[in-house]
Amino acid sequence: EQRVFSGVQPTGNLHLGNYLGAITKFVALQQDYDCIYCVVDLHAITQDREIWGGPEGLRSSTRQVTAAFLAAGVDAEKHIIFNQSQVCAHSELAWIFNCVARIGWLNRMTQFKEKAGKHRENASVGLYAYPTLMAADILAYRATHVPVGEDQKQHLELARNIAQKFNVDFAESAAERGYPDGFFPLPEPLIGETAARIMSLRDGEKKMSKSDPSDMSRINLTDDADAIAKKIRKAKTDPEPLPSELEGLEERAEARNLVGIYAALADQTSAQVLEEHGGATFATFKAALAELAIEKLAPVNAEMRRLMADPGHIDAILTDGARRAREIADPNMNIIKDIVGFIGH
Ligand code: TYM
Repeated sequence: EQRVFSGVQPTGNLHLGNYLGAITKFVALQQDYDCIYCVVDLHAITQDREIWGGPEGLRSSTRQVTAAFLAAGVDAEKHIIFNQSQVCAHSELAWIFNCVARIGWLNRMTQFKEKAGKHRENASVGLYAYPTLMAADILAYRATHVPVGEDQKQHLELARNIAQKFNVDFAESAAERGYPDGFFPLPEPLIGETAARIMSLRDGEKKMSKSDPSDMSRINLTDDADAIAKKIRKAKTDPEPLPSELEGLEERAEARNLVGIYAALADQTSAQVLEEHGGATFATFKAALAELAIEKLAPVNAEMRRLMADPGHIDAILTDGARRAREIADPNMNIIKDIVGFIGH
């Protein structure tokens, strides 16, 4: 049995990286899998309050991410969209996984190091334990496939290690309950060939991120056509025209990024984009890119606005999704608790 699970944090500023690296992939996978897409509000509060915006900011960002899923084309009736905090299984399983994962494993997580910054002693315990909650998100549903951008690869490996260690530690108990191969599948990351890592428009060596202080570094899903055009026009580039072959992009991070964005938006490969646009100056190519980006993003933007105007409707979708999510996760939790040896399940 195969199932897709993925999550997006409601921390404001959903951007083109989230959209192309994750959300459009969520949409495509609906054809072939049962999918669960989660707005991970429990994860959002691991960082400083100013990043997630306090209670009002959290509510509004949670609705914004939900609106983005829907506007991009996730079908909330055939599949499941919900917010993490409505389903207790996530927190409960995260606790069990905190006792399976090793401190040494978490110490290797590069995202913690980046997010905690210099004052690691001051980071929340939640930020440190973040990847065990992420493993719980996936494994509470025994999901097998997880579409993510490249930055989540290490967290996915950790989730596999946790699943594997649980399966080994509780092999006998699981086998007695009808799971001779262990209770958890080892979830596989689905990382796209294009758009797995969209970079900042200001610096081709840095990934596009919600937390970059410069708004010019990213295209937000809430940006209007003028903002999109301006950000692309001002994007950092080098003076050379576009090459006609991929090798010509090797030492040119910014050019590679813009070609990659074009390719992802046009559903082409970078090689195909170069075939068509090789030799073009950046003035010309950026105009074509801006036009394409606006053409693809404007309808999403408009639909998000329409949905956000009715928060009650969005909240109802989340609550219905949470109910259906619990129907899958709760029976799994009972088995997991029984496997561990907790009485009463
Ligand atoms: P988050 O909220 O930071 O990002 C959401 C998704 O967007 C992808 N992404 C990018 N892809 C390409 N280029 C970029 N510049 C870029 N920036 C972000 C991320 O890889 C991600 O797929 N820990 C996760 C959320 C999470 C989760 C999960 C994911 C929680 N539980 C369970 C999968 C399964 C995160 O912080 O994503």
